[in-house]
Amino acid sequence: MEGAVDFLAKTRQKPPARMLTDWFPRLDIHGGVALDLGCGAGAEAEYLAKQGMMVDAIDKSATVVKAAKERCQGLTVDVIQGDFLEFELRPDYYTLAVAINSLPFVMKEDCVALLKSVQAAVRPGGAVILGVFGPEHAWASREDMSFWTLDEFRALWSGWDVLAMNEFKGVSPLASGSEVFQHRIQVIAKKTLLEAGPS
Ligand SMILES: C[S@@+](CC[C@H](N)C(=O)[O-])C[C@H]1O[C@@H](n2cnc3c(N)ncnc32)[C@H](O)[C@@H]1O
Repeated sequence: MEGAVDFLAKTRQKPPARMLTDWFPRLDIHGGVALDLGCGAGAEAEYLAKQGMMVDAIDKSATVVKAAKERCQGLTVDVIQGDFLEFELRPDYYTLAVAINSLPFVMKEDCVALLKSVQAAVRPGGAVILGVFGPEHAWASREDMSFWTLDEFRALWSGWDVLAMNEFKGVSPLASGSEVFQHRIQVIAKKTLLEAGPS
């Protein structure tokens, strides 16, 4: 990953991710609590709070947590410093879970366990906006990260209403400005509402 100082300098004022600003208005979400995993300097948390959500924004880096607290000051954002793998997620609690460019930085089996907890933590009718990296990514040889094929990742979302499963392959800039070949997979999905039982 980029150095923390570089990353901070470049991301302190970055706009919220397009996958969030493109999709949030289409999700029919009005209030509730959002979870932002690996929130970085707080762009997405700030956006979500300004859309009327309360936000739990988690990041393990003290430096970016400080920046996120500054950026989200006065907003309904609880910025938490910690490892999201150790954060106990309340079942059926969140209306939205977001993870932008953070899930690739944990190993695959941890990522699988985390995604299962995230799925349980989202309320029926709630949604996820998440991204992972694919095996053609320039960093794919890193053993401390996780990489998914499209089919593997898609299989996780059976039973969800998948609104979009996007795959991108190509050279594009990192937050630092340097360009690398990226293979990204994104899901936007809603947790289906519980079916009414027989009366
Ligand atoms: C590439 S940055 C993306 C930040 C932000 N989501 C954005 O798009 O600007 C990845 C972030 O994930 C955080 N991160 C990685 N692994 C983490 C973990 N296990 N627990 C909490 N945060 C983590 C890093 O500290 C970093 O801030």
